[in-house]
Amino acid sequence: MHCIRFQCNKLILISYTHSKPLQHYSNSSQHNNIHNNVTISLLDREYPVDNLTTITPTILSKVDRHLHNQYQHPIEIIKRRIVSYFSHKWVDSNGDPLFKSFDNFSPVVSLEQNFDSLRVPLDHVTRSKSDNYYINNQFMLRAHTSAHQRDTIALGHSQFLVTGDVYRRDEIDTKHYPVFHQMEGVELFTNEELFGNEQGSLFDPLKEETEEKQAEHSLETVLAIEKNLKYKLESLMQHLFGNNLQMRWSGTYFPFTHPSYELEIYWNDKWLEVLGSGVMRQHILVAGGKGSKAGYAFGLGLERLAMILFGIPDIRLFWSKDRRFIDQFINLQENSSLNYKPFSLQPPAMRDMSFWINNGEFEMNDFHEIVRDEGEEWIENVELLDEYQSPETRRKSLCFRITYRCMERTLLGEEIQELHTRITDRLQKEMSVSIR
Ligand code: PHE
Repeated sequence: MHCIRFQCNKLILISYTHSKPLQHYSNSSQHNNIHNNVTISLLDREYPVDNLTTITPTILSKVDRHLHNQYQHPIEIIKRRIVSYFSHKWVDSNGDPLFKSFDNFSPVVSLEQNFDSLRVPLDHVTRSKSDNYYINNQFMLRAHTSAHQRDTIALGHSQFLVTGDVYRRDEIDTKHYPVFHQMEGVELFTNEELFGNEQGSLFDPLKEETEEKQAEHSLETVLAIEKNLKYKLESLMQHLFGNNLQMRWSGTYFPFTHPSYELEIYWNDKWLEVLGSGVMRQHILVAGGKGSKAGYAFGLGLERLAMILFGIPDIRLFWSKDRRFIDQFINLQENSSLNYKPFSLQPPAMRDMSFWINNGEFEMNDFHEIVRDEGEEWIENVELLDEYQSPETRRKSLCFRITYRCMERTLLGEEIQELHTRITDRLQKEMSVSIR
């Protein structure tokens, strides 16, 4: 059910979450339906709530955690290892790092920054209300660090990394959490930087877009950028995981790169996707005032990398304040490896629930949000066990299995029952489902 949401070739996998027609959201004020002067206060600012608001108190409480800046937290360790790879390996003629690293851009961005600056189409599935934490019709918690591409270029940077917390409404399991961390990388080249003294030209006078290239670029540009980006990212992965690492590239789609590539690594008998990348859409450079250059961008998921590198089995652990988790990383030396030791594996408890839904009205991510909001760190997994449609009424019934497990201690039977009841009550109240 999960995928990197900007890839349209996989959208079919998440179509279930988009059973409602998508609304066309924009940063204009046409949806300016402010709800009774209710406001959300976030990072010293007040935001009026409106009919696009999806942010919840549970999510708001994560905004000031800054795991990627918490010294020796596994997410921070991964960030530092990647930044250190770039700043040692890629230097200018004076030996100074080429890439500038940013890790404190605010996660509150405008819809314009998150989508329009990248020309994500207005009807693109990734804008959906059920996928994002909208603050209101103008602001949201960024869904990806790509939201900063254009503005960082406009600040005058041509080689940079942006690390930050990103927010997406999603389903619940051990690999997905509504807040996670990404690192964006961007590198722009002049004609000379890309081709040196050799013959070559960044731009294509023919202005034709093909499978291989954007209208603006020449084919040599794409090939040279592709080679550069693949080399840097392959050697990054070897730096993190060792020289014998097996990797494979494949073509993919993002609205803001063309062509686009994703990289998978082979780890414990499985291929795992670790990044999306591609030749940046030229309009982003133009809007940032660097239309005379061409470049690439990539986005890395830091939780995925840390889970692989340290053998961390459950994504909720990153949010744990339990010293038995945190202390395992405190004295880890640069570049040394560590295998996370489970400090207490508590037994899971399963509870099922079945309910009737009104066809066409049920949003899967809204359901997961309520479960997450009530259950917080006590829920490990939510699985759809069964779907059934009554032949007479045509009404649909869904059966879910919720796995309760707390990382830190054993949950009591009564606690689980009480929580399960609270979730059921909220579903009946807020989602107009009827429990069977
Ligand atoms: N922003 C993309 C995502 O979150 C990843 C990406 C970044 C792809 C940069 C291409 C270039 O899925």
